[in-house]
Amino acid sequence: TEAVDRALEALQAGEPVLVHDAADREGETDLIYHADAVTPDAVARLRNDAGGLVCTALGYEVAETFDLPFFTEAVDHPATGDHELGYDERSSFSLTVNHRDTFTGITDEDRSQTIQALGAAAGEPDAVDFTTEFRVPGHVHLLKAAPDLLAQREGHTELGVALAAAADLPPAVVVCEMLDDETGGALAPADARSYANRHDFVYLEGSDVLEALQ
Ligand code: 5RP
Ligand code: ZN
Ligand code: CA
Ligand code: ZN
Repeated sequence: TEAVDRALEALQAGEPVLVHDAADREGETDLIYHADAVTPDAVARLRNDAGGLVCTALGYEVAETFDLPFFTEAVDHPATGDHELGYDERSSFSLTVNHRDTFTGITDEDRSQTIQALGAAAGEPDAVDFTTEFRVPGHVHLLKAAPDLLAQREGHTELGVALAAAADLPPAVVVCEMLDDETGGALAPADARSYANRHDFVYLEGSDVLEALQ
């Protein structure tokens, strides 16, 4: 669709896009950037305007190359045994990371450095020694896309990674839930759409992405 084409151009230009998954899934709208574009100002926008958890979603193959597991497989705690999510079969969470050159890891500068390095690493995964460059745990949550991407799972993780791939960008995107400052709940789709319009950002429904890219 025309909106998806504009979203691909926006991601290529370093602009964020908004994606609402589906009313019968999380019912959340994530603010999404390509990882390469996450400057300190972009981190500030993510925490001020979105307000959810700032995560970097990686394509499955890239995550495998870096030996990044799903969190549930990596941690031997009984609470990881049954996810019991109300909206999906399983979580896409992997580990948390900081770039080794960061100090605390949480400042806008530090998270930007970690995220941009993840974007660069995803562009040439075989050339990267992940452990030399990043430490675990850290302040950026990694998400790992499903092996068969949208054919297998329709989360923001897969929607974002599929958009990056369609835009010919490395499979690394930042996603963060838009929360409502008044209620603390998920920002309503109509409000997310008006935020997008105010800032001249593209707003997509997950179904737009599925129709165009699946
Ligand atoms: C991590 C999340 C978000 O919903 C994020 O969008 C990734 O999850 P999913 O792929 O399940 O939508 O829970 O903050
Ligand atoms: Zn979520
Ligand atoms: Ca806010
Ligand atoms: Zn989500």
